[in-house]
Amino acid sequence: MKIAVFSTKPYDQEYFEKYSSNNDYSFSFFETALNKTTANLSEGFDVICAFVNDKVDKDTIEVLANNGIRLIAMRCAGFNNVDIQSAKDHQIKVVRVPAYSPEAVAEHSVALIMTLNRKTHKAYNRVREGNFSLKNLIGFNLHGKVVGVIGTGQIGIAFCKIMKGFGCRLLAYDIAEAEALIEMGVEYLPLEEVLQQADIISLHCPLNQSTKHMINKASLKQMKAGVMIINTSRGALINTSDAIEGLTQKKIGYLGIDVYEQEENLFFEDLSESIIQDDDILRLNSFPNVLITSHQAYFTKEAMDQITVITLNNIRAFEKEEPLENEVV
Ligand code: NAI
Repeated sequence: MKIAVFSTKPYDQEYFEKYSSNNDYSFSFFETALNKTTANLSEGFDVICAFVNDKVDKDTIEVLANNGIRLIAMRCAGFNNVDIQSAKDHQIKVVRVPAYSPEAVAEHSVALIMTLNRKTHKAYNRVREGNFSLKNLIGFNLHGKVVGVIGTGQIGIAFCKIMKGFGCRLLAYDIAEAEALIEMGVEYLPLEEVLQQADIISLHCPLNQSTKHMINKASLKQMKAGVMIINTSRGALINTSDAIEGLTQKKIGYLGIDVYEQEENLFFEDLSESIIQDDDILRLNSFPNVLITSHQAYFTKEAMDQITVITLNNIRAFEKEEPLENEVV
């Protein structure tokens, strides 16, 4: 099997090499993202392996199909960037890693909450500069606060368990309720009521037609003034310009995002010496109550192990014509 891995960073290569030393797969690691222009690099390969910001749209898939690609192995859970119908039309199978470490993402969501709330990032810099003042560092107790969880799948469940430990009251909205959470005392309510009551709202649902821009001018209106919004799911769940307006008007008290609507041109790269052309991210970065991380919620050793092992298992099952348990259909 010849496998072309796109959007490769040194750590991706390190993990693939760690787990593939005793199989006969031949990997080529491309730093470039996959899109209709770079798709031609797939010539001579059987499988392509792609990540969250690769553009696996209709045009890209046509090129992949012409080059004889038979499997798209996503090394991530989300597949909103893949045109599944086009893949089907070209008899290309799509597999993914549905769950590799829900705890990794849930724990990062909590890291965003804790940092925004207790301002440890600011305290760290202050103290290192000999500034021991507490001015503007005041936080709030999480104990007793109402946390609204939108999407209670694997990550949402892991997140609820942690927040329960803090002594928060948990409200949830999902199109399918999780029995385990109800038993834990999580209250499922209509979305509007969750938005109205929550002090902290954390997004854990996938990006699709029904969830795109679910945080917008209208939904912000329903929320408490000073609400904390956390998004470790997908950037386009939030309408960025509406969020900027919400921050300007002080409706949003804190915004913690690990994902961003236009992240494909920014995230995972060192642009510290570049002139960033994206005015929205610059504006977001200018707010003292906004914390942005660069899609790193998944990035733990345990998650990288799982992503690599499951991706290789997916490819192996395809090669042996076994049932594809992680196929996206
Ligand atoms: P999951 O499939 O286990 O859970 C998703 C939940 O969202 C399900 O319970 C589903 O019923 C619910 N849902 C679907 N449509 C909804 C809607 N319209 N309104 C409310 N809920 C809805 O997925 P998992 O593993 O919990 O992941 C959630 C998302 O997290 C992924 O789709 C992905 O976008 C994101 N993610 C982000 C990572 C990061 O590094 N920042 C890493 C991994 C996943």
